[in-house]
Amino acid sequence: MRGKFITLEGMDGAGKSTHIPTITQILQVRGLEVLVTREPGGTELGERLRELLLHQPMHPETETLLMFAARREHIAQVIRPALMRGAWVISDRFTDASFAYQCGGRGVSYDKMRVLESWVQEDLQPDLTLLFDVSVEVSTQRLAAARDPDRFERENADFFSRIRAAYLARANENPHRFRIIDGSQPIKIIKQLLEEVISSI
Ligand code: TYD
Repeated sequence: MRGKFITLEGMDGAGKSTHIPTITQILQVRGLEVLVTREPGGTELGERLRELLLHQPMHPETETLLMFAARREHIAQVIRPALMRGAWVISDRFTDASFAYQCGGRGVSYDKMRVLESWVQEDLQPDLTLLFDVSVEVSTQRLAAARDPDRFERENADFFSRIRAAYLARANENPHRFRIIDGSQPIKIIKQLLEEVISSI
């Protein structure tokens, strides 16, 4: 049986990376094979593109195309083969991040993004997308405490407000696969929520 595809989304500082081990553990206790991966990245080529994407200034559409080039490779080399052998795949970001950051944040056309989405993904969509939602203030505070910021993390509050709005709009358009989790809650509460959400799929 095909495995399930779970993606984690949210602004920088929303805390999604903190919750990946919890989700992995919930699934492993159920005896499932779990593969954790990330975007941009997840393959050797994808990780090289990630370095460029996080540090090299470029046109917003170049940024979009490189995100999707990395994604094409990720789907072919990692995601589809794992799902086919029955593994569950957890990806730290996927296409919803492109809608949020490149369309919402950078102003790239939604129509162009939809063309890339159907070209690169064909019929592949996440079975579940966990959107960790926090206010721009919380995100900014957490980022200030973090290490050296990358090209995205250095952006201003307006950029992050647009990203948050674009994520929430995308969740509204796809209510069947999105679960919005208030990322400002204590970690213990979020763990309980994750147990409930994951056991329902
Ligand atoms: P992130 O998950 O925040 O990595 P880390 O936790 O190591 O900082 O992802 C890196 C950045 O890439 C993040 O700022 C969002 C950006 N990004 C896009 O702009 N578009 C995309 O399609 C993806 C997948 C990521």
